[in-house]
Amino acid sequence: QERLKGFGKDADFNPLRVHVVGAGVMGGDIATECALRGMIVTLQDQSVERIAPAIARAAKRFERKFKGKPREARFALDRVIPDPAGHGVARADVIIEAIVENLEAKRALFVDIELRARPDALLASNTSSLRIADIASALAEPGRLVGIHFFNPVAVMPLVEVVRTPASSDEAFRRAAAFVRKLDKLPLPVKDEPGFLVNAVLGPYMYEALRCVDEGIAPEAIDAALVAYGMPMGPIELVDTVGLDIAVAAGKALAGAAAVLPKALADKVAAGHLGKKSGQGFYTWQAGKAQKSA
Ligand code: NAI
Repeated sequence: QERLKGFGKDADFNPLRVHVVGAGVMGGDIATECALRGMIVTLQDQSVERIAPAIARAAKRFERKFKGKPREARFALDRVIPDPAGHGVARADVIIEAIVENLEAKRALFVDIELRARPDALLASNTSSLRIADIASALAEPGRLVGIHFFNPVAVMPLVEVVRTPASSDEAFRRAAAFVRKLDKLPLPVKDEPGFLVNAVLGPYMYEALRCVDEGIAPEAIDAALVAYGMPMGPIELVDTVGLDIAVAAGKALAGAAAVLPKALADKVAAGHLGKKSGQGFYTWQAGKAQKSA
């Protein structure tokens, strides 16, 4: 407990420039939280169009946060710089990857980043189900890469897992924890095991709920039961919030690639229904809320 309380507090790491690759659900919101704390963030994705929704979400968050102070909201928004070409890599103190959950894509990205980043820049992946060591082995200096695993929604969730591999340097690990503290979040040191800690526990819970759907129980009934029990959100709504594609990747990481997915989940993904981010999953989503019949 004592060790946890102090983790990341002692480090003298004051990152000013952050580069985030992947402007989806996670990357966009990670960039927003950094800008909110005064950091200058370059946000990279495959096109300006893909970055635009993240900027719109950031604008809303800053408006709410700086209610009645439009100048402050504007300054914060100015600190999030769309950067489809990735120019920000060369100047960043911290580079966080939050692209598609695909090992080869992440390895290729980090090979390129390592060539262009400052030698002292901290490199981090937000992967939820891949091993950090499997990404890091693509690097000339694997010790530079750690996992900084945020939870969704980033603005709300206080915990961030900081993942070290046997190769990670003490310096990278220490800086990652300090960076998480700068975002007013609690860094939790975890091992580079499938699901790290939180998803290793949460994954089976969500998958059991999906198997109940396969058995014919309505998602709303399952969610209502777990909310009545005291959970802040039901497991099926949680799957929708996380993203069904991410849930598939996480399930495979935990149970093995050959594992049989719950049919309800596989069918939805095959139909392109990825949950909240696509507007349709087990629920239909409007204005960020799941539409449930009373
Ligand atoms: P997402 O699908 O919302 O966003 C991914 C973004 O990456 C897309 O905008 C895509 O255009 C972009 N992208 C893909 N390849 C790229 C490349 N080579 N260069 C630049 N941009 C590229 O995905 P989401 O949910 O934000 O997940 C991103 C990462 O965060 C994944 O590794 C996932 O496992 C992890 N994660 C997801 C959580 C969730 O609840 N969705 C929670 C914690 C971690």
